[in-house]
Amino acid sequence: MIVRSATEADLDILAHLHALAFSPGWGAEEIADLGSGPGAFALIAEDSVPCGMILCRTAVGEVEIYTIAVDPAARQRGVGRALVEAAMTQARHDGAGEAFLEVSVENPAALALYGATGFARVGLRRGYYTSGHETPIDAVIMRRDLNT
Ligand SMILES: CC(C)(COP(=O)(O)OP(=O)(O)OC[C@H]1O[C@@H](n2cnc3c(N)ncnc32)[C@H](O)[C@@H]1OP(=O)(O)O)[C@@H](O)C(=O)NCCC(=O)NCCS
Repeated sequence: MIVRSATEADLDILAHLHALAFSPGWGAEEIADLGSGPGAFALIAEDSVPCGMILCRTAVGEVEIYTIAVDPAARQRGVGRALVEAAMTQARHDGAGEAFLEVSVENPAALALYGATGFARVGLRRGYYTSGHETPIDAVIMRRDLNT
């Protein structure tokens, strides 16, 4: 498996991978908007075919993971971990000293991935996820120090 930088030519691939993991996924235009801002970058994992993506933004010494998605057929084989580690390496290179993300309390796979890649819980946003849920779902805020 390799992890490479995504370019504008990969927008449809990024949207396809996102739609495999989220319903509804983000469209190519939405990903282009988020991915073209200052400090934003996307990476794609490929194992003969694209199997995962991560979208992040680095600003004023911090990187935020906006989203990560792995093809269901490729899960629990280290693709998510490889994407997070490659993104953190790039963010460090771009000057980030710490990383943040929000994740649903009802997403055990993502909580396991982030716990396994050095993120620790630093806060809770009550009722953060509203769209598509009858009852709003809390988000855990997680942080990782990139200097240690
Ligand atoms: C979360 C997601 C990206 C994980 O990707 P992945 O390629 O399966 O993750 P990895 O194989 O690299 O696993 C990393 C760690 O998390 C653990 N993990 C992954 N999925 C898990 C699950 N369903 N249950 C328990 N642990 C899990 C692995 O065991 C591994 O831990 P280890 O290295 O200590 O063994 C993937 O499940 C996904 O795309 N989910 C849908 C989208 C999503 O929820 N994104 C996150 C939004 S914040």
